[in-house]
Amino acid sequence: MTDVQIVLISPQPKDAYFWLQVRKQKSTQENNPVGNLSEKKLREQIFESNRDLNFKQSVHRFYIQTSEKEFAGVISLRDINWESGVCELGYLIAEKFQNKGIATQAVRVLMKKSFEAGIKKIKATTYVHNVASYKVLEKNGFVLEGTLKNEILIKGKIQDLYSWAAFSDVKKDL
Ligand SMILES: CC(C)(COP(=O)(O)OP(=O)(O)OC[C@H]1O[C@@H](n2cnc3c(N)ncnc32)[C@H](O)[C@@H]1OP(=O)(O)O)[C@@H](O)C(=O)NCCC(=O)NCCS
Repeated sequence: MTDVQIVLISPQPKDAYFWLQVRKQKSTQENNPVGNLSEKKLREQIFESNRDLNFKQSVHRFYIQTSEKEFAGVISLRDINWESGVCELGYLIAEKFQNKGIATQAVRVLMKKSFEAGIKKIKATTYVHNVASYKVLEKNGFVLEGTLKNEILIKGKIQDLYSWAAFSDVKKDL
């Protein structure tokens, strides 16, 4: 595994093309089919969600950028309830950057920022056969909360998802 250094940046609407590409790539379709949205719709979504985490909005999206200033992936917090402190994590890594430790690093960075901003519980779901994705979560201290039966259509079949969570009050070296 190479040690690619990353930062999380707030994308601009004009950067939507990259997000469209990672949504469409084969590994995303096979593990986390996210539906079809036009580039225009993605631009609008970026516009609504590209502010600093201290803005108490319901979605925050970041691009994962390498030290070479290349976009390597997208990571987001959705359905954020700032009163309860509960939200949902999602991430997609571009295929040429997969298996280099990038998702693991990006989740660690976003968890730290989120807990500092007042988030108490971060939830995530993974397709039960998406080993890479749940390793990312396990390595960041997420625990398995349960299995959601018949939750997602993958490869034409209704499949189960694992439901994971990380808590701000569980001490871990983030
Ligand atoms: C799943 C995904 C986010 C992982 O990102 P990544 O940056 O490649 O992950 P990392 O490099 O941090 O690796 C995480 C772990 O998974 C392992 N891994 C990577 N690919 C794997 C594979 N195909 N099978 C099994 N393990 C794999 C890595 O070896 C690493 O474990 P290790 O540290 O014990 O060696 C990325 O592959 C992806 O975006 N896939 C498509 C969309 C998707 O599945 N998103 C997540 C939806 S929940």
